[in-house]
Amino acid sequence: MKFSKFFSRLQEEPWYREFLRPVIHRVEEHSNLLDIGTGSGKLLEIICKEKSVKATGVDTSSEMLAEATRKLINTNARLLLVDAGRKLPFKKNTFDFISVCNVLFHIKQAAIERMLDEYIGLLKPSGKIIVLTPTGKGNIIQLAWHFFSLKNLGIFIWYSATKKRSIQWGNNGILKCYSIKNNLDYHKEITLKGFAVVETIQV
Ligand SMILES: C[S@@+](CC[C@H](N)C(=O)[O-])C[C@H]1O[C@@H](n2cnc3c(N)ncnc32)[C@H](O)[C@@H]1O
Repeated sequence: MKFSKFFSRLQEEPWYREFLRPVIHRVEEHSNLLDIGTGSGKLLEIICKEKSVKATGVDTSSEMLAEATRKLINTNARLLLVDAGRKLPFKKNTFDFISVCNVLFHIKQAAIERMLDEYIGLLKPSGKIIVLTPTGKGNIIQLAWHFFSLKNLGIFIWYSATKKRSIQWGNNGILKCYSIKNNLDYHKEITLKGFAVVETIQV
């Protein structure tokens, strides 16, 4: 099975909605949202249906976007294939929110800082970047205690596959350092019973 199809199915498990919940909660109704690394589209599907936002998703993978196209068929979300490292094709001051879920902890620090500089320019005044990342903390027994169900088996694969990099992400504090350096408001909240973290940077 292709990774994009596997990931698309994993996003349909109940725990995944719980993982995305703090991002959904932070995006205001009728706002203009850009989702970076939108993958197979679950966040945009929920947000378009429940919050009537104007949503755009970008991704570097055409296979992921093919999955997202299927999920977003009855929404007004716009999807775009982009090249990593290339400038995004949007005007300055366009978006109220930029979400980046399950993406940045895979990317090198120097590239992340360039990406954040670009996102800041695309945000309207008072706009927010919302970054969702696994923490890698805890262990399989704690994970099973909170989430065990035959419908949630994907969380065990997600936890094991992301643990090492997400612990590094937590130790590096890249977003906090970036915010201090650029005099931006930074906020962090631990979610998903300790297994995820949502960080926000406000312009
Ligand atoms: C683990 S998936 C996360 C999908 C979705 N955001 C979610 O949380 O369910 C990571 C996605 O980020 C995409 N990606 C990686 N680097 C990217 C970049 N520089 N710009 C846009 N998308 C990127 C990958 O192709 C992949 O679809």
